[in-house]
Amino acid sequence: MKMTSTDASSKILAPDFYDYPWDPIVSVDQSENFLHLHWSDNISLSCYVLWLRENAIGAGGIDEATREGIFEPKHFCRDIKFNKVEITDEGALIITWESDGLNASYHPGWLRHIALNQHTVDSFTPEIATWTSEEFSAPSRFDAKKILECQKSKKEWINTLIGKGLAKLQNAPDDVNFLNEISEAVGPIRSTNFGGIWDVKADVKLAGSADTNSTANTSLALSPHTDLPTRETPPGFQFLHCLKNETRGGESTMTDGYAVVETLKADWPEDYQILTTCNWIFFNRGPGIDHRWSGPIIELAEFGRPLTLRAFYPVRAFPDMPKKNIPRAYSAMQRLYKLASDSRFQIQFPFEPGDVVCFDNRRILHGRNAFDGSGSRHLRGIYIDRDEILSCARIMNRAIKNK
Ligand SMILES: [Fe+2]
Repeated sequence: MKMTSTDASSKILAPDFYDYPWDPIVSVDQSENFLHLHWSDNISLSCYVLWLRENAIGAGGIDEATREGIFEPKHFCRDIKFNKVEITDEGALIITWESDGLNASYHPGWLRHIALNQHTVDSFTPEIATWTSEEFSAPSRFDAKKILECQKSKKEWINTLIGKGLAKLQNAPDDVNFLNEISEAVGPIRSTNFGGIWDVKADVKLAGSADTNSTANTSLALSPHTDLPTRETPPGFQFLHCLKNETRGGESTMTDGYAVVETLKADWPEDYQILTTCNWIFFNRGPGIDHRWSGPIIELAEFGRPLTLRAFYPVRAFPDMPKKNIPRAYSAMQRLYKLASDSRFQIQFPFEPGDVVCFDNRRILHGRNAFDGSGSRHLRGIYIDRDEILSCARIMNRAIKNK
């Protein structure tokens, strides 16, 4: 009896735990140490011999239980050659290896997802949507309990959070540990010298008191900034849960760093050049700790994205650049600060009990207005690294195979 593609799909494992649609390969040709695979719609993929060998599941390449590679560089040798290459009636690739006579079957849907570039770092994550205050006056809102109970709501929230860099949860319970539930749903907390969950507590009566380790714990305004530029990799995302707010003012302010960087690049290219290439040493001066890192204020990463804005002036300590650049570096920094504070880019919104403001700490410049009144204000915060948020998004945006 002829095997159907459904039968074949269930018999041939992919080198990961995702479910791949069965997309039959129609032909294969070989040149040197490469195989060239072709699908009926003119999609093709070239695969190097050693890459195919190390992705041979169940034939010494990929371990079936962990789906991790077990074929190490010490195994590479010139004897690893194709003995026989065929495409089955169902469209799977089968290779018989010359060195040891082992057979390996390759899922054509898995191979095709590589041909379609769905294996890249950016795949299955939302497009970045830059914004200014013109088109985005307040963060998109989601129900805090619903995102924990409903996968569809969680997916919408996480995609918005990555795309816009900012999203707000509402109706969160009056529970000092609620952020642990967010962490359980998304990924582990990134702990820092402030701890895992930290408090931002201010009592207006104590304003100006020296009994605090941070300006955040006073009622003073906080200008647009990103947290912890003193780290090699500053925390990716920040979640701030408002438990109590009896004060007046203290609105949250947010600016999309992408929009500011794009404007700088277009309108002030010299400032852009200085901000992206001249390093500063960021130094945490707290007693008993000595975190420091040197980097530019706008750190461009791969894929052309300004992944890290290092913009927290209280810990920007020393110029780490040629002396001749220092005056221009100060001037460029002021330009960035002015743009980040400009109402063209910056939005502001109130912080109310039950709100959890979630944002990309390396992209969004956040701050707050000063506050007054007779009461107190209590926020709790956590960081969760970008890796965890992106992993959560990829998992939610794909179907994971049930083992
Ligand atoms: Fe902050």
